[in-house]
Amino acid sequence: MKLRSFIAVEIPAEIQCTILGNTASLQKTLAKPLVRWVEAQNLHLTLKFLGDISPEALEQLNGALKVEIINQRSFNMSVAGLGMFPNPQRPRIIWIGLEAPSALATLQHSVDSVATRMGYTPEERPFSAHLTIGRVGQSVTQADRMKISAAIKTMTIGNLGMFHVEAICIFKSDLRPGGPVYTPLYTLPLRPL
Ligand code: 2AM
Repeated sequence: MKLRSFIAVEIPAEIQCTILGNTASLQKTLAKPLVRWVEAQNLHLTLKFLGDISPEALEQLNGALKVEIINQRSFNMSVAGLGMFPNPQRPRIIWIGLEAPSALATLQHSVDSVATRMGYTPEERPFSAHLTIGRVGQSVTQADRMKISAAIKTMTIGNLGMFHVEAICIFKSDLRPGGPVYTPLYTLPLRPL
């Protein structure tokens, strides 16, 4: 049996709610099938997507990762801004931005190194801290894309809050017909401030 898994930073429930509150009108304007919006409780910062992995390999990864990050300091992260990947002409991912000290990039690098030691392909793209809030529908037309891009450009998302990152989590992802269900399997603490 394999588990579809990923490593991420959890987002506090009040920030998830604030994001939902600030994007509700956008979600209404760009409803499905234009955009598949991420449910508030599923918002997270992905550090590494693992895909299907055996429970034994996951346990081993958890052990190695724990040792790697236990001496890395916890830090604060702010939530602000709205944008699109890869670019506004061809939006695929709609995101809320994150502002963090260099400790976040160090953490992501450590996670990637441990996963690479376990046989995963290292991440080649530069790390760009973001919260995916929506995914553009696969069958949308170019006109739809322009509509999506225009609606996002007219919105300004200022600072939605700050939170303390004191741990990372290994999640299991169950793809259900009603949408994915994410369950934290392991919590790995950072060094307290
Ligand atoms: P994202 O937040 O950067 O979009 C859980 O499914 C998380 O893993 C998603 O939020 C997504 O990160 C990432 N993810 C999902 N499927 C992926 C894939 N096939 N390749 C890389 N990352 C993926």
